[in-house]
Amino acid sequence: MRAATLTAFGAPLEVGDVPDPEAGTGEVLVEVLATCVPPYAAEVFSGERRYPLEPPVVPGVGGIGRLVRVGPDATKLEVGDLVWCDSTVRARDDALTPDITLQGWSSRGEGGARLARYLHDGSFAELMRVPTENVYPLPAGAAADPARWSALGVHTIPYGGLLAGRLAAGETVLISGATGNLGSSAVAVALAMGAGHVVAPGRNRAALDLLAGRFGPRLSPVGLSGDEDADRAATAAAAGGPIDLVLDLLPPQAPSSVTRAAAMTVREYGRVVLMGGVGMLGGADLALPYPWLMRNSVTVRGQWMYPRTANAGMIRLVATGALDLAPERVTRFGLDRAGDAVAHAAAHGGPFDRTVLTPGA
Ligand SMILES: NC(=O)c1ccc[n+]([C@@H]2O[C@H](COP(=O)([O-])OP(=O)(O)OC[C@H]3O[C@@H](n4cnc5c(N)ncnc54)[C@H](OP(=O)(O)O)[C@@H]3O)[C@@H](O)[C@H]2O)c1
Repeated sequence: MRAATLTAFGAPLEVGDVPDPEAGTGEVLVEVLATCVPPYAAEVFSGERRYPLEPPVVPGVGGIGRLVRVGPDATKLEVGDLVWCDSTVRARDDALTPDITLQGWSSRGEGGARLARYLHDGSFAELMRVPTENVYPLPAGAAADPARWSALGVHTIPYGGLLAGRLAAGETVLISGATGNLGSSAVAVALAMGAGHVVAPGRNRAALDLLAGRFGPRLSPVGLSGDEDADRAATAAAAGGPIDLVLDLLPPQAPSSVTRAAAMTVREYGRVVLMGGVGMLGGADLALPYPWLMRNSVTVRGQWMYPRTANAGMIRLVATGALDLAPERVTRFGLDRAGDAVAHAAAHGGPFDRTVLTPGA
């Protein structure tokens, strides 16, 4: 098969022939039709992000594909099924705290790295081997535009955060990083889940205007100034009432003070979910005042990715039209242009702008 390989951090992706992967029991083989390229892929491949990825590797985080081989232990999947492949692979030998690898992308700890050495390669390839439990059948309609559906890889991440924060219909949620790639997705998903009101702070006026234009009165944009106290006051004013849930999705480049200003807008008994990359490349840690947390009975939790059931929930949100993918701009690249796709993604990371690699097209 043909694949794009990262031979070393900082080297360009090499597109060429590599051996076909072989799927064993407990695994399926997928013909990759479309995979969404994260805007920060260039930072991962250059080594800047210091991800625990071990080249040589075929990178790529999940995607849309068609089953070409199904293991003997599958009870419902069939060859030919169109599926979403979730990159979040959990070790099967620890129910409570399984090691996790994001196949073809990242991992957590030594156990995750060990798993990543086995399930090493991702979706920048014509074929991909995937654990059986990581593929999810899609509605027939998805076959018309797999590239558009590959945005599941973006939307399921903030969906995991909103589920972790127990978002209830009618609640007010603040998305920290709302103008970013995942943050804007969080805005759309929160509204699809029934959030009554979404508060969207950011510095990027054009992105704030885009969000306001798409979502109307249930969205309140807030222009950030960089002054922590002033920004907290402006955000609280825009909310016009208590904020039930704060979801932070800022990248490593953002200082923790921006996360803190957002977190501290939450109401008494409110919930704060941390999903961004803040602190991963150094900088001051997030210092939330102990008395504030205690006196206000605030819950703070982190969330990496999402539970398996979130995949099914997200497919349902899209299939029913609750989350509309139609307004998204999708730019497609064939496998031979994998390097161009990575550069394009880096330059087009704004709200609802997708760069998609289509190996099977
Ligand atoms: N937990 C998980 O499972 C998970 C999964 C994947 C990724 N992540 C993390 O999520 C992060 C966010 O991803 P993304 O692709 O959405 O990032 P992104 O598009 O680069 O996010 C940009 C956002 O951050 C804001 N921002 C950037 N620098 C800032 C600064 N100095 N001060 C204030 N705001 C700043 C931008 O706002 P303005 O430009 O409007 O100011 C914008 O809203 C990733 O970097 C990764 O670390 C987490």
